Amino acid sequence: MGTATAAETTRVVSSSARSAVHATSFDPFSVVSNQNTPIKSNIMNDSDRVEVEEDLAIDVDGEDDDADNRSDISRVSSASGRYSTSEKSQYASCFLANQGAHVDLGRASTKSLTESILLQSSENGRRYCNDTYFMPNDDTEQTRLTILHQVYLLLLGGELTTAPLPRRVRRVLDVGSGPGDWAIAIGEKYTSAEVVATDISVFQPTDVPPNVVFQIDDVTEEWTFTQAFDFIHIRNLSGAFSDWAAIYREAFKHLKPGGYLEVIDLEPIQMPKSSPNSYVSIFTGAVQAASEKAGTPVGVGHLKRSMLEGVGFRSVRTTVLDVPIGTWPKDSRKQSMGKMWLIGVLEGLEAMSLRLLTRQMNWKAEEVRELCDKVKAELVGGNIEAKTPFHFLVAKKPLIAI
Ligand SMILES: C[S@@+](CC[C@H](N)C(=O)[O-])C[C@H]1O[C@@H](n2cnc3c(N)ncnc32)[C@H](O)[C@@H]1O
Repeated sequence: MGTATAAETTRVVSSSARSAVHATSFDPFSVVSNQNTPIKSNIMNDSDRVEVEEDLAIDVDGEDDDADNRSDISRVSSASGRYSTSEKSQYASCFLANQGAHVDLGRASTKSLTESILLQSSENGRRYCNDTYFMPNDDTEQTRLTILHQVYLLLLGGELTTAPLPRRVRRVLDVGSGPGDWAIAIGEKYTSAEVVATDISVFQPTDVPPNVVFQIDDVTEEWTFTQAFDFIHIRNLSGAFSDWAAIYREAFKHLKPGGYLEVIDLEPIQMPKSSPNSYVSIFTGAVQAASEKAGTPVGVGHLKRSMLEGVGFRSVRTTVLDVPIGTWPKDSRKQSMGKMWLIGVLEGLEAMSLRLLTRQMNWKAEEVRELCDKVKAELVGGNIEAKTPFHFLVAKKPLIAI
């Protein structure tokens, strides 16, 4: 129990979330000990504690409302679906009209759509968005990301973030949005907010609400947004960057005073009951080593309070929620989450490892696939109680620059 007060990271076991998946029922700060005794958040360090309501001083009240309506739109999705094209273009034109006489549509994007599509390459049977990023962007990967989004929803009891967002959020940035499930969901929840979703890869999501725009943008280059955001969300980008401090600096610069950054990533699979020589351990070790060799480590090494504070963020806190892999938990809610996450993990093994191990460690694609099959057998067959710790870091840009 004592560790909850002492550690920079507060480990919150997912069983603490209430059994029903309901947006208002989630209590992310009800910590559960090994004995499943609930511990309330008031035992945490000051620095770890959830921000209280009066601390939600995001500037949402209007002194720059017109400016808030200006858009960094470089592309409004033309996808068909629930939102009509005219609804989308009306919304886009409204932003553009408010922008004044001239809008440089390319301003916020460092690549054109055509250029991005042309850069796509096929390698060992998977499609990648460029020659460097290690994860594929093909249909299989998009399905995996959609499954992963559902796991997050189950884990957070229907919530989309652990950050204490006020109702009147105006501008949200989703960095590396992938197929855009989160960006679309946050746009649907905050209908008066403008949501900008960026990625280096081309995804063409359908059913995009009119207040969500997708841009091709490489966040390792200087960010060129002209309007600040209330909330910046970066989920599952571990292994994408060699210099996280540079990303945090840009995020800090592009947040409004009082705004929040949330960074979410996963630890490698943990299996308390299995041997250190398991195929899972061999797999996670090899992927970690390959990503480090590539200069873009996977994992949660970038979720350090000191890194965030180093660029000016304050009120940094991390919540860790364990997600079971498989149906081994007794609790039925955790069982269904575990079943879904097992599918996500099995689907993700090859996606995570194929490019890294073939390029960095000179493995043959068949060798990678053979190891993935062994890991799958271990995860599906053994009584190993595997789980993945999900880390949620939230940091606040102070109201007054320090
Ligand atoms: C594992 S996916 C996660 C997608 C999404 N955030 C989610 O949680 O479902 C990582 C995404 O980051 C994108 N990405 C990688 N490097 C990037 C960069 N330098 N700039 C913008 N996006 C990037 C990838 O193209 C990919 O879509």
